[in-house]
Amino acid sequence: MREILLALPGREQSYRIVLDPGLRHRLGAELAGLQLSPRLFVVADARVARLYAEDVLAALEAGGTLPQLLTIPPGERTKSWSMARRLARRLLALGADRTCAVAALGGGVTGDLAGFVASIFLRGVPFVQVPTTLLAMVDAAIGGKTGVNLPEGKNLLGTFHQPRLVALDPEFLQTLPRRERLNGLAEILKAGFIRDPDLLSALDAHRLGLFEDPEALHYVIFRAAEIKAQVVAADEREADTRRILNFGHTLGHALEAASAYRLPHGQAVAWGMVFALELSTLLAGLRPETAQAGRRLIRACGLARRLPSLDPAAILAALPHDKKRRDRDLVFVLLEDAGRPVIHRGAPLPLVREVLGRLMEMNPACQDKRV
Ligand SMILES: NC(=O)c1ccc[n+]([C@@H]2O[C@H](COP(=O)([O-])OP(=O)(O)OC[C@H]3O[C@@H](n4cnc5c(N)ncnc54)[C@H](O)[C@@H]3O)[C@@H](O)[C@H]2O)c1
Repeated sequence: MREILLALPGREQSYRIVLDPGLRHRLGAELAGLQLSPRLFVVADARVARLYAEDVLAALEAGGTLPQLLTIPPGERTKSWSMARRLARRLLALGADRTCAVAALGGGVTGDLAGFVASIFLRGVPFVQVPTTLLAMVDAAIGGKTGVNLPEGKNLLGTFHQPRLVALDPEFLQTLPRRERLNGLAEILKAGFIRDPDLLSALDAHRLGLFEDPEALHYVIFRAAEIKAQVVAADEREADTRRILNFGHTLGHALEAASAYRLPHGQAVAWGMVFALELSTLLAGLRPETAQAGRRLIRACGLARRLPSLDPAAILAALPHDKKRRDRDLVFVLLEDAGRPVIHRGAPLPLVREVLGRLMEMNPACQDKRV
C-alpha cells in the first residue's frame, strides 16, 4: 500500500490518497476511519456498476456502511445540470439528509457529477472518490474540482469540494478499454513533463508494456497522483501554479472542439504536448533534443500518431475560447526543460500558426489543409 496525504493550507482537514491493489474489497474498512454517516450513496455509471458495484457494495456493508447504489448513464452527456438535479431529487426520495455521504465509483464523469451534487446537496455533504479510469486516478479524482457541462461549453458550472478520501485500486484498470488507458497515459506524461523527468524515464522503459507490469504501473500511477496532489496543495483554486497542469491542454482543447469532440481527450492533449514542446524550443529555450525525445516518447506510448483532418482555421478560432485564458494574449504552458514549466503569455499568432502548420505536415491526413 502507498499513500499520499493531501494537506491544503488553511484547512483543518487533509485527506489521504491511498493506492492498493484490491482496495475495492477493503473499502468498508478504509471508510470506517473517516467517521462518516453509515448512509452512503454510491454513484456509478451503468457500465462500471455492472462490473464493480457488487464488490464495492459488499465491501462497504462489511465495514458497517449502509450503501445505496445510484446509477447514471455512461458518457460525457451525463455531466449535465439536469442529471445533477435528477440525482439530488433521487437522494431526497431515498431520504438522504445532511448527515449522509456520497461516493463516486467511476471515471471523471462520475466523479465530477457526483462531487458537484455532493457539494451543493443540502449545502454540501462529505464525498469520497473511488476512481476506476486511469485518467481519474491520476488527475480528475484529485484536487476537488467538480462540475457539469452546459450547452455553451464544458465544466461551466462547478465548485471546489475536496473529497474525504481518494481510493485507488489499480485492479479496476484490467477492464479499461485501450482508448481510455491512453487518455490516462497522456495525463501521466503531462505530469512527467511538468514535474518529473524520472517519471518520463519510467514510461520510456515500459511504454506499451506498462499494463502488463503491475509494479511499474503502480509506480507511475502513484507518482502522477502525487504530482497532481503537490500542485493542488500549492494552489487549490488555480490562482497560479495549478495552471501548469494545463500543459498540452490549451491546444488540446482547441483540437477537441475543432474535431467536434471526435478526437479522444488523451490524443488531443498528446498533440497539444507535441505542439507545446515545439513552441517551447522557440519561446522558452527548451533544447531541441529534449523536445524531440519528448515527442518520441509520446508516440512510443501510442499517442499523437495520426491527427484526423481538421480545419486549421477552426483550431485557431477555438483557441481564444479556452475558458482558462485570462486575457487577450495567447497563454501556453511551455517548458524551459523537462520538469521546468513556465506560463508563457503573448505567443505571437503567426508563430502559433507556423508551429501548428508543422504539426499538420507530419500528418498525411492533414496535408491538404492550409494553415
Ligand atoms: N475534476 C477534475 O479535476 C478533472 C480533471 C480532468 C478531467 N476531468 C473530467 O473527467 C471526465 C473524463 O473522465 P474519464 O476519462 O474518466 O471518462 P469517463 O468517466 O466517461 O469514463 C470513460 C469510460 O470508461 C468506462 N469505465 C470507467 N471505468 C471503467 C473500468 N474500470 N472498466 C471498464 N470501463 C470503465 C466508463 O463507463 C466510460 O464509458 C471529463 O468530463 C473531464 O472534464 C475532471
